[in-house]
Amino acid sequence: MGAACVRRLAAEGARVVITDAKAEMGEALAARLRGEGHDVLALPGDVMDEAGFDDALDRAIAHLGSVDVLINVAGGSYHAYIADIALDQFDRIYRLNVRSTVQACQKVLPAMRQAGRGAIVNMASISGIASDPGWSAYNSAKAGIIALTKALAWEEGRNGIRANAICPGTTASERLRNFLTPERMREFASAIALDRVGTPDEQAAAILFLASDDASFITGATLVVDGGLTARGWQPTDFDRNHGLVRGG
Ligand SMILES: NC(=O)c1ccc[n+]([C@@H]2O[C@H](COP(=O)([O-])OP(=O)(O)OC[C@H]3O[C@@H](n4cnc5c(N)ncnc54)[C@H](O)[C@@H]3O)[C@@H](O)[C@H]2O)c1
Repeated sequence: MGAACVRRLAAEGARVVITDAKAEMGEALAARLRGEGHDVLALPGDVMDEAGFDDALDRAIAHLGSVDVLINVAGGSYHAYIADIALDQFDRIYRLNVRSTVQACQKVLPAMRQAGRGAIVNMASISGIASDPGWSAYNSAKAGIIALTKALAWEEGRNGIRANAICPGTTASERLRNFLTPERMREFASAIALDRVGTPDEQAAAILFLASDDASFITGATLVVDGGLTARGWQPTDFDRNHGLVRGG
């Protein structure tokens, strides 16, 4: 999804800096976009390495001179029941999702305050507004990002800085495509009103909207982009039976 955001930002004419733990992936994307005439720099930046990420952010800000938009995408999950979860894994998921978001915000806020403007979009998830068994670390970390974003909106609103959270539903990102078989992907799609999973480009379009001046009066918001997945409560109805939507039916 981050790559889709970068492609879209570049297409809009923005100067973009990518930070990614997989430096070669970021560089391959940046090189391709530079070849198309865009201004894109890639820096190695593992958000789990505080000093290294700090350095990447410093270099990004120095390169850009000012920062109009920050999009925090990195994140991930770990599956275990609450009864069994190793606490260090819990910490790791919070570090990967929440702490890294705080660190990046802290870095860009001085430049945004100085400019009197800025837009931050934080990657939450529908997993931050509803929970699934075995996903508590991810659920609560993404819920944390939503709460953090609301606080940020109020703390920085008077400084001209907006902060919003995006909640993608199931999206066919590279990770998901590697992780789920087509049959499992189909199963995920069956829980979605639009009967398909989303694409990274659809998420990037929503993220760029939140980052753009078109969203100039939107801050502290949580935008759900899930094809209708969270729009229903899963009570079985006649409609399900008549339309073959009953699970397993
Ligand atoms: N795919 C979905 O269905 C979905 C739904 C909701 C939310 N999300 C969230 O979207 C974000 C991106 O997920 P995705 O599915 O696009 O994954 P992805 O694996 O396709 O892309 C993630 C990118 O982040 C980079 N990355 C991973 N760990 C990193 C680290 N420690 N430091 C810096 N970069 C790191 C990877 O190298 C990769 O380029 C995550 O925060 C995820 O929780 C995904």
